[in-house]
Amino acid sequence: MRDRILAWLEKNVPPSRIEHILGVEQMASNLASHYHLDADKAAQAGLLHDLAKYFRPKQLLQMAIAEGIEIDPILEANPHLLHADVSAIVARDEFGVTEPEILAAIQNHTLGRPNMSELSCVVFLADTIEPGRGDTPELNQIRDISRENLYKAVWLASDYALQHLLSKHRLIHPRTIMTRNWALLQGSKSQSANVETVDRNQPRDRVLA
Ligand SMILES: [Fe+2]
Ligand SMILES: [Fe+2]
Repeated sequence: MRDRILAWLEKNVPPSRIEHILGVEQMASNLASHYHLDADKAAQAGLLHDLAKYFRPKQLLQMAIAEGIEIDPILEANPHLLHADVSAIVARDEFGVTEPEILAAIQNHTLGRPNMSELSCVVFLADTIEPGRGDTPELNQIRDISRENLYKAVWLASDYALQHLLSKHRLIHPRTIMTRNWALLQGSKSQSANVETVDRNQPRDRVLA
């Protein structure tokens, strides 16, 4: 299966992106082991997370609409954000992935989602902090915290993304802010009580049918 995915990636993704994808696969596996999660599932989600990264905007929109995904004005203006949802569709249809947690982690890797699973948090973080992303003090801080408090690291990774978007005067999808606020609340709770808490007002991971 891994070889088949790599062969597909070689045809559809440039070499620099494959390096990033392999970095995410490794980092997601490491983080999952650290938090006693399923490292194989994390690695597979990492390997599959950017399948649709280079699909054209029109194709992303068409595939998302065909899947029944709601296209809000920010997604319509910036269809590239749909590459996460569409990568999960390709993982399912091209590679037969049916594990809901893996598909959700692929879907959540860009915008996150309030109440997303720990596996989704791990893949979301791995996408931000894999070694190929660089060696800045901000990234190194998130790398350190990713070993101490998963939710705090998701919150800081969201802040990092938001700062980048603001500095470039780019559109911000509201889900990035919702993810950030959720992770901040979870991070402060688990820091003070050292327990995982779940906000029952938020929907769980949305998964593909
Ligand atoms: Fe991505
Ligand atoms: Fe990525």
